[in-house]
Parts: sequence; C-alpha cells; structure tokens
Amino acid sequence: MTPDASALLRWYDHHRRALPWRSLPGQRPDPYAVWLSEIMLQQTTVKAVISYYERFLTHYPTVQDLAAAPLEDVLHLWAGLGYYARARNLHACAKRVSERGGFPDTVEDLLTLPGIGAYTARAIAAIAFGRPVVPVDGNVERVTARLNATEEPLPGARPLLAKQAARLNADPVAKSRPSDFAQALFDLGATICTPRNPACLTCPWQTSCIAHARGVAAQLPAKQPK
Ligand code: ADE
Repeated sequence: MTPDASALLRWYDHHRRALPWRSLPGQRPDPYAVWLSEIMLQQTTVKAVISYYERFLTHYPTVQDLAAAPLEDVLHLWAGLGYYARARNLHACAKRVSERGGFPDTVEDLLTLPGIGAYTARAIAAIAFGRPVVPVDGNVERVTARLNATEEPLPGARPLLAKQAARLNADPVAKSRPSDFAQALFDLGATICTPRNPACLTCPWQTSCIAHARGVAAQLPAKQPK
C-alpha cells in the first residue's frame, strides 16, 4: 500500500524542524545552501553540522565566493568535520558550478559533479529544484523497511529498499511538493521512526505501516551480522 502523502505533509507542516538550510515555507531554497548542507550531512549528524554550516555561509555566502577561496582556507574551516575528501570535492564542485554559472537542476546532471552521488543528487534535485524524486539515506531506508516490513537485512536489502522508497511518492500529492516531501521523510526518520523506540503512536503513517501492525517496527531494518 502506498502511504498517504497528505498525512505526512500535514504532519510536517506542524512539526518541521527549523534548520538553518531550510527556506521558510513558500520560499524558494538556495541551491548553494541546500548543496552545502547535504555535503556536510553525508557522514555527520544534524547537530554537529549546524555550526559548521553557518560558519561556511558567513565566510562564503555564494558558490562563487567558495570557488574563489584557497583550498587551504576551505580545509581549515572544515577541520573537525572529518572525511577531508568531502572538503576537497566541495571546493572542486564549487569551481565547476561557478564556471558553468549555477547548479544543474536534474539528477543526471548533478551526478556529474565532484562529491555528488545518488543520494545527494536526489536530495538537491528534490529540495532545491522541486524534482519529484526520493533521496534515500539511512533514515529513509528505515522508514521504508518498516512500512513494507522488509525482512532482508542491510546492506543486502539496499537495492530493494531503494525500489520501495521510489514508490513512496507515487501519490500525486507527494509529487506536488517534492521539496517538503523529501524533508518530511528525513524528519520522520529522525524524530518518529527512530532506530530505537520508534514513536509509532504519534506517527502520521501508523495505519499504513506493516511492521507496526506486526509489532516488529523496532526490529527493522535487520542487519547482517558482521
Ligand atoms: N539529513 C540529510 N539531509 C537533511 C535535511 N535536508 N534535513 C534534515 N536532515 C537531513
């Protein structure tokens, strides 16, 4: 069953987290801000990212400012976030985007840029450009595994979960608000459909969740023993 996109969006309208890279409702997001936040969030928690994100935007308010900065300065500002390849790719990507006069607005073209993989391309396409695609990160995998009661363990289940997640926005209501729909999925995964002790009783998708009906939400997704 496709879960009800209206229920999720109604929940999001009331409970959306105020995060610095989020535009106000009705405002067009800045692709640079969305891209910067998504690169930082790739391997780092929201809590740890916020101060770095704000510092970067203060130093480099536009992608042209970041492109023009010496790599050394960018690495210095990145210090503490870890995974320094991300900072090198960030700088390389800023140069490419600056040269071509802005970010591309399709998943396919975003994928050609340094540091942008399947997840990030979809996140930027949906959040910044309103493309009706579902970015699949760990949160969205968990939500999907529970909705469908997918028993195959991670990481093997990844391709299946990606297919199942792609169907989440089959509802035309989801396609009418792709940016909010993607961010609502992140918030649902981060605040309700949490890894441990999920708050199923307040979940907007409670009635379409097979794992909840079976009482196994907290056990999913299963993980392959190492
Ligand atoms: N995790 C990754 N991208 C995110 C976003 N845009 N908002 C909240 N959490 C996220």
